[in-house]
Amino acid sequence: MRITMIGSGYVGLVSGACFADFGHTVVCVDKDERKIAALKGGAIPIFEPGLDRLVSENVRRGRLSFTTDLGPAVAEADAVFIAVGTPSRRGDGHADLSYVFAAAEEIARSLTGYTVIVDKSTVPVGTGDEVERIIHATAPEADFAVVSNPEFLREGAAIEDFKRPDRVVIGSDDPRALAVLRDIYRPLAIGRSPIVEMGRRAAELTKYAGNAFLATKITFINEIADLCEKVGADVQDVARGIGLDNRIGAKFLHAGPGYGGSCFPKDTLALLKTAQDYEAPQRIVEAVVGVNDNRKRAMGRKVIAAVGGDIRDKTVCVLGLTFKPNTDDMRDSPAIAVIQTLQDAGAHVHAHDPEGTEQAQKVLENVTYFDEPYAAMEGAEALVIVTEWDNFRALDLKRVKSLLAAPVLVDLRNIYPRARCEELGFTYCGIGR
Ligand SMILES: NC(=O)c1ccc[n+]([C@@H]2O[C@H](COP(=O)([O-])OP(=O)(O)OC[C@H]3O[C@@H](n4cnc5c(N)ncnc54)[C@H](O)[C@@H]3O)[C@@H](O)[C@H]2O)c1
Repeated sequence: MRITMIGSGYVGLVSGACFADFGHTVVCVDKDERKIAALKGGAIPIFEPGLDRLVSENVRRGRLSFTTDLGPAVAEADAVFIAVGTPSRRGDGHADLSYVFAAAEEIARSLTGYTVIVDKSTVPVGTGDEVERIIHATAPEADFAVVSNPEFLREGAAIEDFKRPDRVVIGSDDPRALAVLRDIYRPLAIGRSPIVEMGRRAAELTKYAGNAFLATKITFINEIADLCEKVGADVQDVARGIGLDNRIGAKFLHAGPGYGGSCFPKDTLALLKTAQDYEAPQRIVEAVVGVNDNRKRAMGRKVIAAVGGDIRDKTVCVLGLTFKPNTDDMRDSPAIAVIQTLQDAGAHVHAHDPEGTEQAQKVLENVTYFDEPYAAMEGAEALVIVTEWDNFRALDLKRVKSLLAAPVLVDLRNIYPRARCEELGFTYCGIGR
Protein backbone atom coordinates (compact mmCIF):
# COMPACT_ATOMS: atom_id res chain seq x y z
CA MET A 1 0.00 0.00 0.00
CA ARG A 2 1.12 3.56 -0.68
CA ILE A 3 0.45 5.63 2.40
CA THR A 4 0.78 9.38 2.91
CA MET A 5 0.88 10.71 6.45
CA ILE A 6 -0.08 14.37 6.88
CA GLY A 7 1.63 15.65 10.04
CA SER A 8 4.95 14.20 11.21
CA GLY A 9 4.70 14.80 14.95
CA TYR A 10 4.55 12.25 17.78
CA VAL A 11 1.71 10.31 16.14
CA GLY A 12 2.40 10.86 12.43
CA LEU A 13 6.10 10.05 12.55
CA VAL A 14 5.70 6.95 14.71
CA SER A 15 2.71 5.68 12.69
CA GLY A 16 4.46 6.41 9.40
CA ALA A 17 7.67 4.66 10.46
CA CYS A 18 5.73 1.64 11.77
CA PHE A 19 3.62 1.35 8.59
CA ALA A 20 6.88 1.46 6.59
CA ASP A 21 8.25 -1.26 8.83
CA PHE A 22 5.17 -3.37 7.99
CA GLY A 23 6.33 -3.12 4.35
CA HIS A 24 4.14 -0.28 3.06
CA THR A 25 5.60 2.66 1.13
CA VAL A 26 5.14 5.74 3.27
CA VAL A 27 5.63 9.45 2.67
CA CYS A 28 5.50 11.61 5.81
CA VAL A 29 4.45 15.19 5.10
CA ASP A 30 4.80 18.19 7.37
CA LYS A 31 4.45 21.88 6.70
CA ASP A 32 7.20 22.58 9.24
CA GLU A 33 10.20 22.92 6.95
CA ARG A 34 12.71 22.60 9.79
CA LYS A 35 11.20 19.31 10.89
CA ILE A 36 11.32 17.86 7.38
CA ALA A 37 14.87 19.15 6.79
CA ALA A 38 15.94 17.48 10.05
CA LEU A 39 14.28 14.20 9.09
CA LYS A 40 15.85 14.28 5.63
CA GLY A 41 19.22 14.87 7.28
CA GLY A 42 18.77 11.79 9.50
CA ALA A 43 17.81 13.64 12.72
CA ILE A 44 14.66 12.87 14.73
CA PRO A 45 12.91 16.05 15.88
CA ILE A 46 11.29 14.42 18.95
CA PHE A 47 12.54 12.07 21.65
CA GLU A 48 10.87 8.68 21.44
CA PRO A 49 12.80 5.52 22.38
CA GLY A 50 13.72 3.38 19.35
CA LEU A 51 12.36 5.82 16.77
CA ASP A 52 15.75 6.85 15.37
CA ARG A 53 16.60 3.24 14.43
CA LEU A 54 13.15 2.49 13.04
CA VAL A 55 13.23 5.60 10.86
CA SER A 56 16.78 5.19 9.57
CA GLU A 57 16.25 1.50 8.78
CA ASN A 58 13.10 2.16 6.74
CA VAL A 59 14.62 5.17 4.97
CA ARG A 60 17.58 2.95 4.03
CA ARG A 61 15.22 0.33 2.61
CA GLY A 62 13.51 2.99 0.51
CA ARG A 63 10.12 2.59 2.16
CA LEU A 64 10.01 5.85 4.14
CA SER A 65 10.53 9.39 2.86
CA PHE A 66 9.75 12.95 3.93
CA THR A 67 8.46 16.01 2.16
CA THR A 68 6.81 19.39 2.67
CA ASP A 69 5.09 19.00 -0.70
CA LEU A 70 1.69 17.54 0.08
CA GLY A 71 0.30 17.51 -3.50
CA PRO A 72 2.40 14.81 -5.19
CA ALA A 73 2.43 12.69 -2.01
CA VAL A 74 -1.39 12.68 -1.92
CA ALA A 75 -1.78 12.10 -5.66
CA GLU A 76 0.16 8.84 -5.47
CA ALA A 77 -1.42 7.48 -2.27
CA ASP A 78 -3.95 4.69 -1.74
CA ALA A 79 -4.57 6.04 1.77
CA VAL A 80 -3.92 9.50 3.21
CA PHE A 81 -3.75 9.69 7.00
CA ILE A 82 -4.44 12.96 8.79
CA ALA A 83 -2.27 13.14 11.92
CA VAL A 84 -2.14 16.87 12.57
CA GLY A 85 -2.59 18.48 15.97
CA THR A 86 -6.02 19.12 17.52
CA PRO A 87 -5.14 21.32 20.51
CA SER A 88 -7.68 23.03 22.77
CA ARG A 89 -9.16 26.05 21.06
CA ARG A 90 -8.09 29.18 22.90
CA GLY A 91 -10.86 30.56 25.06
CA ASP A 92 -13.46 27.80 25.03
CA GLY A 93 -11.79 24.38 25.24
CA HIS A 94 -13.37 22.97 22.06
CA ALA A 95 -10.94 20.96 19.93
CA ASP A 96 -9.30 23.32 17.43
CA LEU A 97 -10.02 21.61 14.12
CA SER A 98 -8.48 24.25 11.89
CA TYR A 99 -5.42 22.09 11.09
CA VAL A 100 -7.61 19.10 10.23
CA PHE A 101 -9.89 21.13 7.96
CA ALA A 102 -6.95 22.89 6.29
CA ALA A 103 -5.36 19.49 5.63
CA ALA A 104 -8.65 18.17 4.21
CA GLU A 105 -8.86 21.06 1.76
CA GLU A 106 -5.26 20.58 0.66
CA ILE A 107 -5.77 16.85 0.25
CA ALA A 108 -8.90 17.43 -1.85
CA ARG A 109 -6.96 19.52 -4.38
CA SER A 110 -4.56 16.67 -5.14
CA LEU A 111 -6.70 13.52 -5.10
CA THR A 112 -6.38 11.19 -8.10
CA GLY A 113 -8.14 7.81 -8.31
CA TYR A 114 -9.93 6.16 -5.40
CA THR A 115 -8.31 7.30 -2.14
CA VAL A 116 -9.16 6.58 1.47
CA ILE A 117 -8.71 9.56 3.78
CA VAL A 118 -8.10 8.31 7.29
CA ASP A 119 -8.48 10.56 10.27
CA LYS A 120 -5.95 9.53 12.92
CA SER A 121 -6.02 12.84 14.80
CA THR A 122 -8.28 12.87 17.87
CA VAL A 123 -11.40 14.69 16.68
CA PRO A 124 -14.88 15.30 18.07
CA VAL A 125 -17.76 13.20 16.88
CA GLY A 126 -19.01 14.37 13.49
CA THR A 127 -15.63 15.66 12.25
CA GLY A 128 -15.49 12.88 9.65
CA ASP A 129 -18.76 14.20 8.18
CA GLU A 130 -17.26 17.69 7.95
CA VAL A 131 -14.02 16.42 6.37
CA GLU A 132 -16.14 14.55 3.82
CA ARG A 133 -18.15 17.72 3.11
CA ILE A 134 -15.00 19.84 2.68
CA ILE A 135 -13.41 17.37 0.28
CA HIS A 136 -16.61 17.03 -1.73
CA ALA A 137 -17.05 20.81 -1.90
CA THR A 138 -13.41 21.34 -2.99
CA ALA A 139 -13.24 18.43 -5.43
CA PRO A 140 -16.77 17.37 -6.45
CA GLU A 141 -15.49 14.69 -8.85
CA ALA A 142 -13.09 13.05 -6.38
CA ASP A 143 -13.53 9.35 -5.64
CA PHE A 144 -12.85 8.94 -1.92
CA ALA A 145 -14.02 7.71 1.47
CA VAL A 146 -13.36 9.19 4.92
CA VAL A 147 -12.56 6.77 7.72
CA SER A 148 -11.92 7.33 11.43
CA ASN A 149 -8.93 5.45 12.87
CA PRO A 150 -8.12 6.98 16.26
CA GLU A 151 -4.65 6.36 17.66
CA PHE A 152 -4.06 5.00 21.15
CA LEU A 153 -0.26 4.95 21.37
CA ARG A 154 1.45 6.31 24.47
CA GLU A 155 4.47 8.56 24.15
CA GLY A 156 7.52 6.84 25.60
CA ALA A 157 6.26 3.41 24.47
CA ALA A 158 4.84 4.50 21.14
CA ILE A 159 6.46 1.96 18.83
CA GLU A 160 5.57 -1.01 21.01
CA ASP A 161 2.02 0.33 21.38
CA PHE A 162 1.66 0.81 17.64
CA LYS A 163 3.02 -2.61 16.76
CA ARG A 164 1.26 -4.52 19.53
CA PRO A 165 -1.88 -2.52 20.23
CA ASP A 166 -4.65 -3.69 22.57
CA ARG A 167 -6.92 -3.01 19.58
CA VAL A 168 -7.16 -1.07 16.35
CA VAL A 169 -10.41 0.87 15.90
CA ILE A 170 -11.66 1.47 12.35
CA GLY A 171 -14.75 3.60 11.87
CA SER A 172 -16.42 3.21 8.47
CA ASP A 173 -19.29 1.40 6.80
CA ASP A 174 -17.79 1.70 3.30
CA PRO A 175 -16.71 -1.80 2.17
CA ARG A 176 -14.05 -0.49 -0.24
CA ALA A 177 -12.49 1.69 2.45
CA LEU A 178 -12.62 -1.13 4.98
CA ALA A 179 -10.79 -3.43 2.57
CA VAL A 180 -7.96 -0.87 2.24
CA LEU A 181 -7.68 -0.44 6.03
CA ARG A 182 -7.71 -4.21 6.58
CA ASP A 183 -4.82 -4.49 4.11
CA ILE A 184 -2.87 -1.75 5.86
CA TYR A 185 -3.31 -3.34 9.29
CA ARG A 186 -2.98 -6.97 8.11
CA PRO A 187 0.39 -7.48 9.90
CA LEU A 188 -1.33 -6.62 13.18
CA ALA A 189 -4.32 -8.89 12.49
CA ILE A 190 -1.84 -11.73 11.83
CA GLY A 191 -0.25 -10.90 15.18
CA ARG A 192 -3.73 -11.32 16.72
CA SER A 193 -4.35 -7.70 17.69
CA PRO A 194 -8.13 -7.21 17.60
CA ILE A 195 -9.22 -5.00 14.67
CA VAL A 196 -12.54 -3.53 15.74
CA GLU A 197 -14.77 -2.16 12.98
CA MET A 198 -17.60 0.19 13.84
CA GLY A 199 -19.46 3.27 12.64
CA ARG A 200 -17.38 6.40 12.05
CA ARG A 201 -19.06 8.38 14.82
CA ALA A 202 -18.61 5.52 17.29
CA ALA A 203 -14.89 5.39 16.43
CA GLU A 204 -14.50 9.12 16.98
CA LEU A 205 -16.25 8.90 20.33
CA THR A 206 -14.33 5.76 21.38
CA LYS A 207 -11.11 7.77 21.55
CA TYR A 208 -12.60 10.42 23.84
CA ALA A 209 -14.45 7.90 25.99
CA GLY A 210 -11.22 5.92 26.43
CA ASN A 211 -9.14 8.93 27.46
CA ALA A 212 -11.90 10.26 29.75
CA PHE A 213 -12.13 6.87 31.46
CA LEU A 214 -8.37 6.70 32.05
CA ALA A 215 -8.32 10.29 33.33
CA THR A 216 -11.15 9.33 35.69
CA LYS A 217 -9.22 6.33 37.00
CA ILE A 218 -6.15 8.48 37.71
CA THR A 219 -8.23 11.16 39.39
CA PHE A 220 -10.12 8.60 41.44
CA ILE A 221 -6.96 7.16 42.98
CA ASN A 222 -5.59 10.68 43.52
CA GLU A 223 -8.63 11.57 45.61
CA ILE A 224 -8.36 8.28 47.50
CA ALA A 225 -4.71 9.25 48.15
CA ASP A 226 -5.87 12.52 49.73
CA LEU A 227 -8.16 10.53 52.01
CA CYS A 228 -5.32 8.11 52.83
CA GLU A 229 -3.22 11.02 54.05
CA LYS A 230 -5.99 12.10 56.40
CA VAL A 231 -6.72 8.64 57.82
CA GLY A 232 -3.18 7.24 57.98
CA ALA A 233 -3.47 4.60 55.24
CA ASP A 234 -1.04 3.93 52.40
CA VAL A 235 -2.62 4.51 48.96
CA GLN A 236 -0.22 2.04 47.37
CA ASP A 237 -1.69 -0.70 49.56
CA VAL A 238 -5.21 0.39 48.65
CA ALA A 239 -4.33 0.56 44.94
CA ARG A 240 -2.89 -2.95 45.05
CA GLY A 241 -5.86 -4.16 47.02
CA ILE A 242 -8.36 -2.93 44.45
CA GLY A 243 -6.17 -3.34 41.36
CA LEU A 244 -5.93 -7.11 41.79
CA ASP A 245 -9.68 -7.23 41.19
CA ASN A 246 -9.85 -8.08 37.47
CA ARG A 247 -12.90 -5.89 37.05
CA ILE A 248 -10.80 -2.91 38.13
CA GLY A 249 -7.26 -3.73 36.94
CA ALA A 250 -3.97 -2.44 38.35
CA LYS A 251 -3.05 0.06 35.63
CA PHE A 252 -3.60 3.80 36.07
CA LEU A 253 -3.90 3.42 39.83
CA HIS A 254 -0.67 5.24 40.69
CA ALA A 255 -1.41 8.28 42.81
CA GLY A 256 0.54 11.32 41.67
CA PRO A 257 0.49 15.03 40.88
CA GLY A 258 -2.46 14.85 38.45
CA TYR A 259 -2.63 13.89 34.81
CA GLY A 260 -1.06 16.10 32.15
CA GLY A 261 0.35 15.63 28.68
CA SER A 262 -0.70 16.24 25.14
CA CYS A 263 -3.95 14.26 25.29
CA PHE A 264 -5.89 13.82 28.56
CA PRO A 265 -6.31 17.51 29.48
CA LYS A 266 -7.42 18.66 26.03
CA ASP A 267 -9.47 15.55 25.25
CA THR A 268 -11.45 15.58 28.50
CA LEU A 269 -12.22 19.25 27.90
CA ALA A 270 -13.24 18.67 24.29
CA LEU A 271 -15.54 15.81 25.37
CA LEU A 272 -17.27 18.16 27.79
CA LYS A 273 -17.79 20.69 25.00
CA THR A 274 -19.29 18.03 22.73
CA ALA A 275 -21.50 16.88 25.62
CA GLN A 276 -22.75 20.45 26.11
CA ASP A 277 -23.45 20.89 22.41
CA TYR A 278 -25.50 17.69 22.35
CA GLU A 279 -27.15 18.37 25.72
CA ALA A 280 -25.86 15.14 27.20
CA PRO A 281 -23.85 16.39 30.21
CA GLN A 282 -20.93 14.24 31.36
CA ARG A 283 -20.99 15.08 35.06
CA ILE A 284 -18.32 12.56 36.04
CA VAL A 285 -15.83 13.93 33.53
CA GLU A 286 -16.70 17.50 34.60
CA ALA A 287 -15.71 16.58 38.16
CA VAL A 288 -12.53 14.87 36.96
CA VAL A 289 -11.41 17.95 35.03
CA GLY A 290 -12.08 20.24 38.00
CA VAL A 291 -10.35 17.98 40.53
CA ASN A 292 -7.32 17.51 38.31
CA ASP A 293 -6.96 21.23 37.59
CA ASN A 294 -6.89 22.03 41.31
CA ARG A 295 -4.49 19.24 42.07
CA LYS A 296 -1.47 20.52 40.16
CA ARG A 297 -1.07 23.76 42.12
CA ALA A 298 -1.99 21.87 45.28
CA MET A 299 1.19 19.85 44.69
CA GLY A 300 3.19 23.08 44.74
CA ARG A 301 1.53 24.00 48.04
CA LYS A 302 2.44 20.54 49.35
CA VAL A 303 6.11 21.32 48.70
CA ILE A 304 5.80 24.69 50.43
CA ALA A 305 4.22 23.01 53.47
CA ALA A 306 7.00 20.39 53.51
CA VAL A 307 9.67 23.09 53.85
CA GLY A 308 7.78 24.71 56.72
CA GLY A 309 5.35 27.08 55.01
CA ASP A 310 7.71 29.85 53.86
CA ILE A 311 9.68 29.29 50.71
CA ARG A 312 10.62 32.88 49.83
CA ASP A 313 14.22 33.10 48.54
CA LYS A 314 14.75 29.42 49.18
CA THR A 315 15.95 27.11 46.43
CA VAL A 316 14.00 24.01 45.45
CA CYS A 317 15.38 21.27 43.22
CA VAL A 318 12.85 19.75 40.82
CA LEU A 319 13.70 16.45 39.13
CA GLY A 320 11.60 15.58 36.08
CA LEU A 321 9.80 18.17 33.97
CA THR A 322 8.11 16.25 31.16
CA PHE A 323 4.56 15.01 31.75
CA LYS A 324 5.89 11.47 31.98
CA PRO A 325 9.22 9.66 31.54
CA ASN A 326 10.74 8.74 28.16
CA THR A 327 9.42 11.71 26.25
CA ASP A 328 10.50 15.31 25.74
CA ASP A 329 6.85 16.43 25.67
CA MET A 330 6.06 19.26 28.09
CA ARG A 331 2.47 19.88 26.97
CA ASP A 332 0.34 20.43 30.11
CA SER A 333 2.97 18.79 32.30
CA PRO A 334 2.15 18.95 36.05
CA ALA A 335 5.70 20.26 36.55
CA ILE A 336 4.63 23.57 35.00
CA ALA A 337 1.97 24.30 37.65
CA VAL A 338 4.14 22.95 40.47
CA ILE A 339 7.07 25.18 39.50
CA GLN A 340 4.89 28.24 38.91
CA THR A 341 3.29 27.80 42.35
CA LEU A 342 6.73 27.64 43.95
CA GLN A 343 7.91 30.70 42.02
CA ASP A 344 4.73 32.61 42.92
CA ALA A 345 5.65 31.99 46.56
CA GLY A 346 9.13 33.42 45.98
CA ALA A 347 11.21 30.25 45.52
CA HIS A 348 14.16 29.80 43.17
CA VAL A 349 13.89 26.63 41.12
CA HIS A 350 16.78 24.43 40.03
CA ALA A 351 15.72 21.68 37.65
CA HIS A 352 16.95 18.67 35.75
CA ASP A 353 15.22 16.51 33.17
CA PRO A 354 16.97 13.89 31.02
CA GLU A 355 15.27 14.93 27.75
CA GLY A 356 12.83 17.75 28.42
CA THR A 357 15.02 20.80 29.07
CA GLU A 358 14.76 22.24 25.55
CA GLN A 359 10.94 22.08 25.57
CA ALA A 360 10.77 23.23 29.22
CA GLN A 361 12.73 26.36 28.38
CA LYS A 362 9.90 27.36 26.04
CA VAL A 363 7.20 27.23 28.72
CA LEU A 364 8.94 28.02 32.02
CA GLU A 365 10.74 31.20 32.98
CA ASN A 366 13.47 31.88 35.56
CA VAL A 367 14.38 28.24 36.09
CA THR A 368 18.06 27.25 36.35
CA TYR A 369 18.67 24.02 34.44
CA PHE A 370 21.33 21.43 35.20
CA ASP A 371 22.71 18.61 33.05
CA GLU A 372 22.60 16.04 35.82
CA PRO A 373 20.50 15.55 38.97
CA TYR A 374 23.10 15.93 41.73
CA ALA A 375 24.34 19.32 40.52
CA ALA A 376 20.74 20.58 40.62
CA MET A 377 20.38 19.58 44.30
CA GLU A 378 23.32 21.47 45.70
CA GLY A 379 22.18 23.89 48.41
CA ALA A 380 18.45 23.29 47.83
CA GLU A 381 16.01 23.29 50.75
CA ALA A 382 13.98 20.48 49.22
CA LEU A 383 14.18 17.86 46.49
CA VAL A 384 10.94 17.37 44.56
CA ILE A 385 10.52 14.42 42.22
CA VAL A 386 7.81 15.31 39.71
CA THR A 387 8.44 12.79 36.90
CA GLU A 388 9.59 9.23 37.54
CA TRP A 389 12.45 8.86 35.02
CA ASP A 390 14.34 5.61 35.64
CA ASN A 391 17.53 7.41 36.65
CA PHE A 392 15.71 9.09 39.55
CA ARG A 393 14.65 5.72 40.98
CA ALA A 394 18.04 4.79 42.35
CA LEU A 395 19.56 8.06 43.55
CA ASP A 396 22.37 7.78 46.07
CA LEU A 397 20.28 9.08 48.97
CA LYS A 398 23.28 9.61 51.25
CA ARG A 399 24.84 11.82 48.60
CA VAL A 400 21.51 13.58 48.09
CA LYS A 401 21.33 14.34 51.80
CA SER A 402 24.86 15.69 51.85
CA LEU A 403 24.11 18.04 48.94
CA LEU A 404 20.79 19.44 50.14
CA ALA A 405 20.71 22.38 52.54
CA ALA A 406 17.78 20.69 54.27
CA PRO A 407 16.92 16.99 53.92
CA VAL A 408 13.37 17.34 52.58
CA LEU A 409 12.24 14.85 49.92
CA VAL A 410 8.89 15.46 48.25
CA ASP A 411 8.22 12.36 46.19
CA LEU A 412 5.22 13.13 43.99
CA ARG A 413 5.50 9.69 42.31
CA ASN A 414 5.94 7.52 45.39
CA ILE A 415 9.14 5.93 44.07
CA TYR A 416 11.01 5.85 47.40
CA PRO A 417 10.04 3.91 50.54
CA ARG A 418 9.17 6.30 53.34
CA ALA A 419 10.85 4.10 56.00
CA ARG A 420 14.24 4.08 54.24
CA CYS A 421 14.15 7.84 53.66
CA GLU A 422 13.28 8.52 57.29
CA GLU A 423 15.99 6.12 58.46
CA LEU A 424 18.48 8.26 56.52
CA GLY A 425 17.18 11.38 58.22
CA PHE A 426 14.98 12.80 55.45
CA THR A 427 11.69 14.52 56.03
CA TYR A 428 9.75 12.43 53.52
CA CYS A 429 6.54 13.56 51.87
CA GLY A 430 4.89 11.18 49.41
CA ILE A 431 1.40 11.05 47.92
CA GLY A 432 -1.28 9.35 49.99
CA ARG A 433 1.01 7.67 52.49
N1 LIG B 1 0.88 12.55 21.21
C1 LIG B 1 0.20 11.49 21.59
O1 LIG B 1 0.60 10.72 22.47
C2 LIG B 1 -1.10 11.14 20.91
C3 LIG B 1 -1.67 9.87 21.11
C4 LIG B 1 -2.86 9.57 20.46
C5 LIG B 1 -3.48 10.52 19.66
N2 LIG B 1 -2.93 11.76 19.51
C6 LIG B 1 -3.60 12.72 18.62
O2 LIG B 1 -2.90 12.73 17.37
C7 LIG B 1 -2.93 14.04 16.81
C8 LIG B 1 -1.51 14.53 16.55
O3 LIG B 1 -0.86 14.65 17.81
P1 LIG B 1 0.73 14.84 17.91
O4 LIG B 1 1.07 14.74 19.35
O5 LIG B 1 1.41 13.94 16.92
O6 LIG B 1 0.85 16.36 17.40
P2 LIG B 1 2.18 17.16 17.00
O7 LIG B 1 1.90 18.57 17.30
O8 LIG B 1 3.39 16.49 17.58
O9 LIG B 1 2.27 16.97 15.42
C9 LIG B 1 1.39 17.53 14.49
C10 LIG B 1 2.18 17.90 13.24
O10 LIG B 1 1.27 18.24 12.20
C11 LIG B 1 1.88 19.24 11.39
N3 LIG B 1 0.84 19.87 10.58
C12 LIG B 1 -0.19 20.63 10.97
N4 LIG B 1 -0.95 20.98 9.91
C13 LIG B 1 -0.37 20.42 8.81
C14 LIG B 1 -0.68 20.42 7.42
N5 LIG B 1 -1.75 21.04 6.93
N6 LIG B 1 0.13 19.75 6.59
C15 LIG B 1 1.21 19.10 7.07
N7 LIG B 1 1.54 19.06 8.38
C16 LIG B 1 0.77 19.71 9.24
C17 LIG B 1 2.55 20.14 12.41
O11 LIG B 1 3.56 20.93 11.82
C18 LIG B 1 3.11 19.11 13.41
O12 LIG B 1 4.43 18.73 13.08
C19 LIG B 1 -3.72 14.91 17.81
O13 LIG B 1 -5.07 14.94 17.42
C20 LIG B 1 -3.58 14.14 19.12
O14 LIG B 1 -4.63 14.39 19.99
C21 LIG B 1 -1.74 12.09 20.10
